[in-house]
This record gives sequence, structure tokens and C-alpha cells, in this order.
Amino acid sequence: MTFDLFADHDLQQPDRLDRIGEQAVVLRGFALPWVDSLLAALTPVLRQSPFRQMQTPGGYTMSARLSSCGALGWTTDHQGYRYSSVDPLTAQPWPAMPEVFLALAEAAASAAGFNTFVPDACLINTYCPGAKMSLHQDKNERCFDAPIVSVSLGLPAVFQFGGFSRSDTAQRISVFHGDIVVWGGVDRLRYHGVLPVKTGHHPLLGEQRLNITLRKAG
Ligand code: SIN
Ligand code: FE2
Repeated sequence: MTFDLFADHDLQQPDRLDRIGEQAVVLRGFALPWVDSLLAALTPVLRQSPFRQMQTPGGYTMSARLSSCGALGWTTDHQGYRYSSVDPLTAQPWPAMPEVFLALAEAAASAAGFNTFVPDACLINTYCPGAKMSLHQDKNERCFDAPIVSVSLGLPAVFQFGGFSRSDTAQRISVFHGDIVVWGGVDRLRYHGVLPVKTGHHPLLGEQRLNITLRKAG
């Protein structure tokens, strides 16, 4: 037996589901058949509402650059974290949620055991090498009944999946192009984050990790 058997791409067999919590899973390679249509839909979205750097309420500049689509988009500035129906950068509504995002969100949620997931908010993050996302809870949504569906594309990253307080030890889970993490139910408010993305080149996306996170916010 050689270690080649455990190369990254061999982890992405279809239908492989890694359980990371009672109601939290990683669906390995689930988005792979959707990548072309996801990226095609993303282009006009990002033309309308480009990536931008945001400030935390505490005055830090986030290292990942963010955009949104859907009826509600997530933003942060000195006034706090919130969802809004207007993009503060363009003063226009956020771009509409592409159909393919809705379809993938529903399919992934269902594969993870959550039926009838209809997101109204999609946060789009790009991480260049070195960028990270500190441990946080997704709690700006109006209620926590719906799961979070988080699609990883491009460069790999280490996703941290913690407990219900920031200081709880977090699992470190490698996520690759096409993987989807879904968490909801009893795991909905777990702390999570992304360790600094390592330098690399992805054949499709170049020097970046893209993350598309679908939520029911309103
Ligand atoms: C997020 O929590 O908003 C992003 C998570 C990720 O990039 O995987
Ligand atoms: Fe999050």
C-alpha cells in the first residue's frame, strides 16, 4: 500500500459523508458536478456586487473579501454585523440569488438530513493565501431553524468546527474544492472559522479559496 491512496482527490469519492456533529456533516465532493454552473452564475453576481473588504465593529479589517446575493446580504462595519436588503457599496439591492445556488443548497441540505431548505441570503467569501476567518457563530439570522450550507471551492483550507463557546476545542477539518459543510439543528450555533489559507494555485480558481454560504436569514 502506498500513501498515494490517500492523496486529496481520493478523499472526494461521490457520496462520501463525514459526520462532524450530531446534525453536522461534510459532503465530500458534493458540489463537483455543479462547479461550472456555479461559477458561471457567480460572474454577473460579482460584477454587480464586487468583493470588498469589510471592517468589524471593533475596527479590524477582515482578511477575506466578501460579497452577497439574495434578498438579504450580510455586512459588517463600525455599526455592527447585520443583514440588509441593499448593498452598501452600490446602494442597490443585492444581486438575485441564482437558481443554481438554490438548487444546490436544497440538494445538499437534503443529503445532510434537512428537508425543504430555501435560503434567502448567500454570503460569498474569497480568501487569498494568508486570509482567514476567526471563530464565530452565525447568529445574525432571524431564527436558527434552518441549517447553514457552506460550499468550498478553489484552494483547500482547514475549517474549524468548535463548540458553543469560543474557547471550546475546535475540530480541524480539511475542506477541498467541491466539499460542502452543512450544520443545523442542535449544531446550528457552533463556533466555526477558517485557518489562514496556504499559498497554492488551483487549476480553476488560481490563488484563492472561494466559499459560498447559504442561509435563511429573514
Ligand atoms: C463563514 O463562516 O462565513 C465562512 C466559512 C468558510 O469560509 O468556510
Ligand atoms: Fe460563519
